[in-house]
Amino acid sequence: MENNVVGTILFTEEQIQQRAKELGKQISQDYAGESVYLVGTLRGAVVWMADLMKNITIDTEIDFVVASSYGSGMTTSGVVKMKKDLEGNIYGKNVIIIEDIIDTGTTLKYLKERLADRNPKSIRICTLLDKPSRRVADVKAEYIGFEVENLFIVGYGLDYDQKYRNLPYISYLEG
Ligand code: IMP
Ligand code: MG
Repeated sequence: MENNVVGTILFTEEQIQQRAKELGKQISQDYAGESVYLVGTLRGAVVWMADLMKNITIDTEIDFVVASSYGSGMTTSGVVKMKKDLEGNIYGKNVIIIEDIIDTGTTLKYLKERLADRNPKSIRICTLLDKPSRRVADVKAEYIGFEVENLFIVGYGLDYDQKYRNLPYISYLEG
């Protein structure tokens, strides 16, 4: 990764927005007659969450957390911290955690357990990307945008050292 060259486009903005439409519709059907409380994980999930929420047609609240097991680089520290908590109360609500990518699953497993402690009515996960080959923690997303190989993904919210979040497509860094 020394040169940090961005590779070819894996998913275009149009493909991502199409998936946001499909998953937004599915979520609206799955929770028909109820409301959902979307919990976005800062900072990576914001671009995906913005696309997704516009396609949810039932009552929707949004909130954000910062839970991180990563430092500034590319390797996980394995230690998870909740650096910013929710603003609202999720007791009795249908929580959907919105994530950018599930890699080892360490961060999300921790976050899901901490939120489940607060007795929401239900709790599910919607991730833009899933990298199942890297999974260590036992955690699964009910809604998945796309599956990816074991590459270091950047763009559409995902960063390397805080760069590339603004790319309007999903790519990867070449080593
Ligand atoms: P996990 O705890 O190993 O699943 O790590 C999850 C977090 O690490 C994600 O929410 C991302 O912020 C970051 N991450 C994992 N894989 C990648 C990647 O390929 N590109 C950019 N960030 C990643
Ligand atoms: Mg993240």
